[in-house]
Amino acid sequence: MKISDLFSVDGYGVVVTGGASGIGLGYAEALVSNGARVTILDVDAESMEKETVRLRKNGLDIRGETVDVTDHAALDAAMDEAARVYGGLDAVFANAGIDPGVGFVGEWVGAERLRIREGAIENYSDERWNRVIGINLNGIFATVRAAVRHMKPQKSGHIVVTSSLASTRVEPAIGAAYMAAKAGVVQFMRTVALEVAAFNITVNAIAPGYIVTNIGGGHAKNPVEQKAVARVIPMHRVGFPQDMDGIAIFLASKASDYITGQEIIVDGGMGLGVAD
Ligand SMILES: NC(=O)c1ccc[n+]([C@@H]2O[C@H](COP(=O)([O-])OP(=O)(O)OC[C@H]3O[C@@H](n4cnc5c(N)ncnc54)[C@H](O)[C@@H]3O)[C@@H](O)[C@H]2O)c1
Repeated sequence: MKISDLFSVDGYGVVVTGGASGIGLGYAEALVSNGARVTILDVDAESMEKETVRLRKNGLDIRGETVDVTDHAALDAAMDEAARVYGGLDAVFANAGIDPGVGFVGEWVGAERLRIREGAIENYSDERWNRVIGINLNGIFATVRAAVRHMKPQKSGHIVVTSSLASTRVEPAIGAAYMAAKAGVVQFMRTVALEVAAFNITVNAIAPGYIVTNIGGGHAKNPVEQKAVARVIPMHRVGFPQDMDGIAIFLASKASDYITGQEIIVDGGMGLGVAD
């Protein structure tokens, strides 16, 4: 077996939700640059247009559709259209997600991390809870469901969901709904993996640590924040979407054909604790 065959995604039909920015755009670029045909679905029409035009200029086979993953009928229609264009779906990345804003604590001020009234559980609004669950959990469910509808008859496919270190480790500055959604995503991923294994479909999760993207208004682009976070990452640097390239190709290609129901953490060791 040649490595170039094992990891090939050449000609694959791929869909990435939340593909106009950050980690999703990274997945899309990694796949499309290696010969896949990629559709990005994103609620942000402007960024999607900008990124697809940029990638098409490089001769890459990428298309985009404006879809909000909370609109399950529109999502189904977009997935059907991508499958029609590609004659099936080889890999689907259920990735779109948001950071809901404040948690119950904020920034460190000296040795103290201040409590935030708005993020406290007794003040947590239904609107905020439902918005996060609607995108970060229900949106993943609807994307995976649509992917399975196409992959089951073809008896093949790779589904990848984006979870987070937050699926197992509480990040108090992000808040309860995000933690619940990400933990839910992982157990949902395992359940579907068990169900569809007999149809030769794999379902896995990528759990990023701290990756510089536009999430939460792009605060991770601030060099002061990056420097502070890098101190508590054992590899002493923050992550970038390109750090996901290897795992994205691996989980989409036949290199991972016998691996299912797994959450793979990509975090520079952050989940292990602080080393030095
Ligand atoms: N950046 C990190 O450190 C980090 C860490 C762990 C997990 N994640 C997860 O990675 C995923 C991608 O986040 P990112 O950091 O790349 O953020 P990002 O904001 O850079 O990209 C997210 C993309 O999803 C799109 N999106 C948001 N809501 C949508 C909706 N309702 N329908 C369709 N598209 C929608 C946005 O328009 C955006 O293009 C999310 O699931 C996030 O929870 C990120």
